[in-house]
Amino acid sequence: MSRTRLVIGNWKMNGSRDDNAALLRELVFEAKKYSAIEMAVCPPAVYLDGVGQQIGGSPIRLGAQDLCEQAAAGAFTGEIHGNMLKEFGCRYVLVGHSERRSLYGETDERVAQKFVTAQVCGLVPVLCLGETLADREDGSTEAVLARQLDAVVASAGIAALRDAVIAYEPVWAIGTGRTASPEQAQAAHAFLRRRLAESDAKIAGSVPLLYGGSVNAENAASLFEQPDVDGGLIGGASLKASAFLAICAAAQARNGQ
Ligand code: PGA
Repeated sequence: MSRTRLVIGNWKMNGSRDDNAALLRELVFEAKKYSAIEMAVCPPAVYLDGVGQQIGGSPIRLGAQDLCEQAAAGAFTGEIHGNMLKEFGCRYVLVGHSERRSLYGETDERVAQKFVTAQVCGLVPVLCLGETLADREDGSTEAVLARQLDAVVASAGIAALRDAVIAYEPVWAIGTGRTASPEQAQAAHAFLRRRLAESDAKIAGSVPLLYGGSVNAENAASLFEQPDVDGGLIGGASLKASAFLAICAAAQARNGQ
């Protein structure tokens, strides 16, 4: 089964116009070397316009870090509608990143609404899910992943997963320098596919599953060698061109196998 290989940079709340321009100059210059994979960057929303202009004409895709779950525009101060993201050229939008869940109280239900709204707006949702360290230690990793995934399948319907990406990001590995082992990542990804296959085997086999959590230039290759790991969602290492490009190179090397 050949699936899209994808490396997405999640800049989180980092960057400035100058820093973004310097980073993108290098990425745009090198991007054509990575034609076997898809490369995307998710800057803070205020930079989407500028970043979109700078990557215009290159194969790099644009993504947003979040969107409002509301389907209709209106009185939602501070929020950003999916149509606005689409208007500024976004292809992807992250939904349910663990920082949104843990710091901003996003529930499984709200994440599922965001997923649905993203697709209504013509965006490809990147559904982020993953267990905490406490979940892993008490043996509930699979139960947590199932709960987070099932909430979306229940709201959106299994067919919606045909046009989506899933990112497995164990919370204990995000920004900690403590990455999941390739075996741990593979086990979680295989579980997610089995869970989806209970509803639709074809969709389970075709949805790209990204790993995220302290991926860097050194560990990317061993993660991407896993049969159910189709690429990465990269935080810290996406802020440095050399590191991000090395990760893209690792994804592309896997693509050739
Ligand atoms: P990290 O972040 O690569 O800095 O661990 C990943 C993410 O949160 O998407």
